Amino acid sequence: MTSGTTSDYRIIDLFAGPGGLDVAARWLGIPTAGIEIDDQACATRKAAGLETWQGDVRDFGPKDFPDANVLVGGPPCQTYTVAGSGTGRHNLDKVLDFARRMAAGENIRRELDEMPDVRTGLVLEPLRWALDAVDLERPYDVIVLEQVPAVIQIWEAMAKILRANGYGVATGVLHTEQFGVPQTRRRAVLIARWNTTEVALPQPTHRLYRKGVAQTEGDAMLKPWVSMGEVVRRGRPFTVISNYGTGGDPKERGKRRHTTPSATVTGKISRNRVDEGDGGCSRFTDPEAGLLQTFPADFPWNGTGIAQQIGNAVPPLFALHVLDAALQLDTDLDAWSAANLPPWNADPLPGVTS
Ligand SMILES: C[S@@+](CC[C@H](N)C(=O)[O-])C[C@H]1O[C@@H](n2cnc3c(N)ncnc32)[C@H](O)[C@@H]1O
Repeated sequence: MTSGTTSDYRIIDLFAGPGGLDVAARWLGIPTAGIEIDDQACATRKAAGLETWQGDVRDFGPKDFPDANVLVGGPPCQTYTVAGSGTGRHNLDKVLDFARRMAAGENIRRELDEMPDVRTGLVLEPLRWALDAVDLERPYDVIVLEQVPAVIQIWEAMAKILRANGYGVATGVLHTEQFGVPQTRRRAVLIARWNTTEVALPQPTHRLYRKGVAQTEGDAMLKPWVSMGEVVRRGRPFTVISNYGTGGDPKERGKRRHTTPSATVTGKISRNRVDEGDGGCSRFTDPEAGLLQTFPADFPWNGTGIAQQIGNAVPPLFALHVLDAALQLDTDLDAWSAANLPPWNADPLPGVTS
């Protein structure tokens, strides 16, 4: 097990997308290589200067990246999300059984490929990589996985398998606004470390968002969550109107003021209306949507389907906390944020009554 300095690590990122995890790794000074199949996400990665192997994760393995000692991955989530088809959620028992069979050394590639939606089985690819690396007697020092909350049962099943293979593992569902992301987004995270039981998820630095509870209220030990208006600075109040949300007054459903964190940014973010009052209504620009995900304002989004690319990504600021905890780097993330993030502050609209 290597110690916690960034120069010790080299990351292989499976299902790398436009690079939310890679941006965080770059912030930490850790080299990454990403495997990604989609032309558009690869176009963005190329423009951002992120090392990329375009192709199908299933066609690669640990042997192809002998220098990598950290495995990270955010497999496609569409079949597991509430908004998606649900085939992943409905086939959970099957996927858990596949995980057990994979751990027992069976080759189940053909059966996974024949699932009704092939994306459902891709969630097990990181396990294949992890077990192959153990067989090669070059286990990854650290493994980090991230997906929608419905996948937590799969991460827990994988945790059992990884523990039986020499890893310490922590799993849990984290809220991104508790790490300074101006967005409520829940993510199931798995962190595994080879040959040690010292493993923990990152500790929240910010308060949990609760509808109707003011930004100034809550646990005094934690910082207030960050609102949309602190990051998307339009100079006047706005309300975002989406089609999401349940319960309460139907007229208020799917509405978020600039004074609150954004709802989960998905591939449909470009359809949300941004109502500035006085009849003024627009959409988020790509850089604004990227900011809600904590990408830099000048991140070079490229190709088509940019809203989808943005919605697919891990918020880099969240990934920064997860990687820092997983690699036990002990970075002063407060100081890092002050030095490197835009000067977000608690007053999104100085002098304006909202
Ligand atoms: C949830 S996104 C991952 C986002 C990424 N972690 C980030 O932070 O930007 C899943 C990605 O997997 C890619 N993908 C889907 N199937 C794939 C495959 N078989 N091999 C490689 N990439 C694949 C999709 O194009 C998508 O970009």
